[in-house]
Amino acid sequence: MAVEIRSIKRSELLEFYNMQQVYLDKESFDIFLKNFKKYPRLYLCAFKGKELVGIAYPGTLRDGSLYLRGIGVDLAKGYARKGIGSKLLSAFENEVRSKGQHTLTAGSAKDPKVEKFYAKNGWQPTKLVIKNKNGRTRIKISEEAKLSFLRKKFSTRDYFIVFEKKL
Ligand SMILES: CC(C)(COP(=O)(O)OP(=O)(O)OC[C@H]1O[C@@H](n2cnc3c(N)ncnc32)[C@H](O)[C@@H]1OP(=O)(O)O)[C@@H](O)C(=O)NCCC(=O)NCCS
Repeated sequence: MAVEIRSIKRSELLEFYNMQQVYLDKESFDIFLKNFKKYPRLYLCAFKGKELVGIAYPGTLRDGSLYLRGIGVDLAKGYARKGIGSKLLSAFENEVRSKGQHTLTAGSAKDPKVEKFYAKNGWQPTKLVIKNKNGRTRIKISEEAKLSFLRKKFSTRDYFIVFEKKL
């Protein structure tokens, strides 16, 4: 599907924010604006004509490096699985690479579809992170067999998988 991928304009921020609230991180508009102002070029959007159909945006890790904090496509309007997420991901990777960063990470929701999405785009699973009452337990993933084993072992727990891409 032909879509335009570009940085969001200030006049479109509310639309971007509304999509983020539906599919991704919930935060106040003030916090959203504060985050946007740090890396405006990395707040990427996909437009089909005048319709916003997908978004991607960064966060920063403790060491100051960038990660992909959120990526989403308007699934409710029938835009799933039309390659829009992959185009956004690729544009996001290019933007981060152009800043001189060579590795990018993202936390995948506990959802086989999302895991497939990252794998299909050449990302590798590196850690399974279990959310506990008192914090988080991180388990390194060395191979696919270990990932399948961990998924089964922790199937009832709240976890996410960290995916990584070398840029
Ligand atoms: C994850 C998400 C961004 C994928 O976007 P998308 O535009 O539908 O993905 P693409 O069309 O580029 O799909 C690329 C590959 O991902 C996998 N994939 C994507 N959606 C899938 C689905 N519903 N079922 C199975 N595999 C799927 C497939 O391998 C697909 O390749 P294929 O269609 O050639 O088999 C989208 O499902 C989404 O917005 N989900 C809700 C928000 C979310 O969970 N975001 C990720 C957390 S940060």
